[in-house]
Amino acid sequence: AMNSTFFMCKPDAVERGLIGEIIRRIEATGLKIVRAELRVVDEATAKAHYAEHEGKPFFGELISFITSSPVFVTEISGPDGTWEIVRKLMGKTNPAEAAPGTIRGDLATSISANLVHGSDSADSARRELANFFPVR
Ligand code: CMP
Repeated sequence: AMNSTFFMCKPDAVERGLIGEIIRRIEATGLKIVRAELRVVDEATAKAHYAEHEGKPFFGELISFITSSPVFVTEISGPDGTWEIVRKLMGKTNPAEAAPGTIRGDLATSISANLVHGSDSADSARRELANFFPVR
């Protein structure tokens, strides 16, 4: 069955001109970009997206960073477990721990400016797609 996940190039990726390089890596696996938009994320959408991190020391910084300038939000479609394929391409959250060959391992150096976000489960994918693309 076909399956979708939410994937975002964060402000640092857009500012550094890395959208093309990042999306190229995703398309090279055969996954399809079925929806995409460059937009500035409003505070309500950002807070809903990162609700699980509310109360953590980096929450304020995270919300101001993600709303600071345009992000490239996408829906990616592929086989069951598409979210997991995308997460493997991304590498670990902390670029210092991300393997060479992954987006973060090759291109990122900071945990807060780590270039990309991808849903971490099928449930998160549904929730995050609904949050960023409410009219479908
Ligand atoms: P992301 O996958 O978008 O989900 C939460 C984000 O919080 C994470 O990527 C990091 O970019 C960001 N973040 C900033 N500081 C930290 C931290 N100390 N620990 C974990 N995540 C952090």
